[in-house]
Amino acid sequence: MTTRRLVLTRSAAVIGAASTGLLLPQIVRAQSDKVRVGFMLPYTGTFAQLGVAIENGFRMAVNEQGGKLGGREIEFFKVDDESNPAKGIENATRLVQRDKVDVLIGTVHSGVQMGIHKVARDTGVLNLIPNAGVHVATRAQCAPNVFRTSFTNSQPTLALGKAMVDRGHKKAVWITWNYAAGDEAYEGFEQSYTAAGGTIVKKLGLPFPNVEFQALLTEIASLKPDAVACFFAGGGAAKFLRDYAAAGLNRNIQLYGSGFLTEGVLDAAGDAANGVLTTMHYSDSLDTPRNKQFRLDYAKTFRLQPDVYAVQGYDTGLLLVKGANAVKGDLSNKAALYGAMEGATIDSPRGKWTMSKAHNPIQDMYLRKVENKENKVIGVAAKAVADPATGCRMG
Ligand code: PHB
Repeated sequence: MTTRRLVLTRSAAVIGAASTGLLLPQIVRAQSDKVRVGFMLPYTGTFAQLGVAIENGFRMAVNEQGGKLGGREIEFFKVDDESNPAKGIENATRLVQRDKVDVLIGTVHSGVQMGIHKVARDTGVLNLIPNAGVHVATRAQCAPNVFRTSFTNSQPTLALGKAMVDRGHKKAVWITWNYAAGDEAYEGFEQSYTAAGGTIVKKLGLPFPNVEFQALLTEIASLKPDAVACFFAGGGAAKFLRDYAAAGLNRNIQLYGSGFLTEGVLDAAGDAANGVLTTMHYSDSLDTPRNKQFRLDYAKTFRLQPDVYAVQGYDTGLLLVKGANAVKGDLSNKAALYGAMEGATIDSPRGKWTMSKAHNPIQDMYLRKVENKENKVIGVAAKAVADPATGCRMG
């Protein structure tokens, strides 16, 4: 009884104080404060265009809501992570400690992601991953405050092996950058290709982000495989496509890849990309009203053609909008915010997808072929691909 009376008395005092204007500044500020959104993305280096596309996509989703999240205005903060893993922790810490972001959106590179992941787990800040596919973030180190809207590194290549063998390409060379994304893309490729009856003749690699492909292409020519499969992305992917064609390999050794190989690079690669076959959770030519409207709006707003990175950024925005609306902008209501995002079905330009228990998309993988500067969809290579989420226990 005493306690209750005390509480009542106190709240009466607060109301009294507020009506005299004494507490008003704090109260007003708490309600009108902007949501602080931090982008930690590459804006320089081989993945620079990927960072820009992700930011554009995210802004587009938010602009469709009048530029607000759960009714609140947004203040943006930006850090160029340079795809440099050595600065990952420092850059993420700057956004969280100095800029006090409510949500950190990043990043592209799997190595840098591990820096963000440490900071997210240590501080509890909400982290939305708009690209980087590093397995552990939604496997053994999955976390309640970390959500991925893109893929795990092995998801696209898990759909690749069968498509290759179905086309009679049973002996392949694999080539990639030697870092988490390339290594984990290989895992998916090895599993799917050998299960379908293919043989991997040789695994080739070079350090990220090197683009000195010549010696490796000479080696491929002498190995004479039926096909080459790879993981490359961004500026490095455009260079690989051009060098592969310049070496004459595209005439008799079919090139395959996870679809990043041909995303955002079709102008830069020109004819060198024609005929390349890839698997990916998106295709430019998906013939749905949702995709067509998205492509039109994006092109109008940014004077650029959207790619898978733009879609992933857009979906990151859609996910955060769902969460923020569910808590009416109060992102500190974490249980309700995370609950809404966990249960979300995202109506994406890639097709509808749902969030797995480990916080990674369950999604279809398309087989695509490059024709006249477009990733044309040939069919669905695998339906509802879910990452195994090995070792994930949310706690
Ligand atoms: C990654 O490092 O996880 C990564 C980078 C670029 C991509 C895909 C994955 O296109």
